Amino acid sequence: MKVYQIQVGNMQNFTYIVEDEDTRVAIIIDPSWDLVELELIIKRNNLKIKYIVNTHHHFDHTIGNEVMVESTKASIIQHESSELKHDIKVKDGDFIEFGNSKLKIIHTPGHSKDSICLTGDGKIFSGDTLFVGNCGRVDLPGGSAQELYHSLFDVLYSLDDNLILYPGHNYGQSEISTIGQEKTTNLVMQKRTEQQFVEMMG
Ligand SMILES: [Fe+2]
Repeated sequence: MKVYQIQVGNMQNFTYIVEDEDTRVAIIIDPSWDLVELELIIKRNNLKIKYIVNTHHHFDHTIGNEVMVESTKASIIQHESSELKHDIKVKDGDFIEFGNSKLKIIHTPGHSKDSICLTGDGKIFSGDTLFVGNCGRVDLPGGSAQELYHSLFDVLYSLDDNLILYPGHNYGQSEISTIGQEKTTNLVMQKRTEQQFVEMMG
């Protein structure tokens, strides 16, 4: 699985193109801005885009959907609780298959109700659930510090330390990290009670 990480727009968003190298079938995660650059990568590498996957419904992760659907004819995948336009609904534990590759969906509400992470091949795409050195905000509609606590500590914390973390924004000291590194150094991943976490996020 080959990952193209593209920083786009003015909010330090990351769009990803993830390629199954056997077949050149690929997915786009969170298209928003700088779509010409995505088109160039797709063309240069002769990629066939099967799906557009949104880690959650916020506009800075989805505003490029329609344009990319037009040029790639891909189907849009979102969590079943999303109210935005999409073709395929996924829930926790589902797999997305493209070429000989697959990624598992992990539902991680907290930043938003429909937040998902995608994991497979030693990687995790974490959207706005977990950043390098921080986590997503919880003060937007559908956000919940309690839910994010459980997503971080009951779900992400128990994953393989070696997973390479590909976040939804470039907010940290590096573009990528690992789950193990974040468990050690990320302020929000330090052991706290739920109440302490909620107070910190407030
Ligand atoms: Fe967001």
